[in-house]
Amino acid sequence: MSATIIDGKAFAAELRGKAAKAVDRIRAETGDVPGLAVVLVGEDPASDIYVRSKNKMTTECGMRSFVHRLDADVPEAQLLELVETLNADSAVNGILVQLPLPDHVDANLVLASIDPAKDVDGFHVSNVGLLGTGQPAMVPCTPLGCLMLLKSQLGDLTGMNAVVLGRSNIVGKPMAQLLLGESCTVTIAHSRTRDLAEVTRRADILVTAVGRPEMVTGDDLKVGATVIDVGINRVERDGKKRLVGDCHFASCVEVAGAITPVPGGVGPMTIACLLKNTITAFCRARGLDEPEELTL
Ligand code: GUN
Repeated sequence: MSATIIDGKAFAAELRGKAAKAVDRIRAETGDVPGLAVVLVGEDPASDIYVRSKNKMTTECGMRSFVHRLDADVPEAQLLELVETLNADSAVNGILVQLPLPDHVDANLVLASIDPAKDVDGFHVSNVGLLGTGQPAMVPCTPLGCLMLLKSQLGDLTGMNAVVLGRSNIVGKPMAQLLLGESCTVTIAHSRTRDLAEVTRRADILVTAVGRPEMVTGDDLKVGATVIDVGINRVERDGKKRLVGDCHFASCVEVAGAITPVPGGVGPMTIACLLKNTITAFCRARGLDEPEELTL
């Protein structure tokens, strides 16, 4: 049996289309559109690609995009000053500081300086706390995208055994909170977990976010499991550069019930959810209802 392939690329394109329609309506109602500011420090090639892509998709959906590129050796104080300026700018509804930051910058300090109402990444401790206590929060984009794909595939998740492989602040921890919010029984597994395969084989839902190429194989899955592969790992195979996930796709697809591919699975959902969060931030700032078509 071969699993259903969850087409994140198509789902994300649909979500961006809905975001563009919501922006059209907002423009008609308020005479204004949401704005997203992205801050990139240094010249990490992968980050540069993400930032270009965010800029393109933000403008394509009718919103304002502001990109701030700073040198890798920018003093921390100057970065904090920029964030303060963006916090005070009424044309900016969402602020994203691209991670990772250079070692001389305290990333936690920078994230804490972002106005929580403009924190479209959902990384500020206020938003982390709101999510953890089940209150309306800015939800980190990648886990939000994963949850949308899961719900589109499975509907109600109540009572399912969900295993999140990875404990990062960006994906693993917020993903676990979201699944708990959907009444799943949630296990967070990680590099120190004993007998990992025994844990993953109990998962009705498995979300992998460890950044280890093809670590999870079909033998590690429950038959019929829904697998969401967040890993984007650059590897060289037969002399060619390729992107692979944390799951060994060829073996997992034979055991899973549904699985996201890499590329074309979770990746495109992250930026689509960033657009959604920026619209949410605009609506909350203006006391408007959030567009219904963008809610989960
Ligand atoms: N770097 C990798 N993923 C992300 C993300 O979702 N947000 C930010 N700010 N940086 C990242």
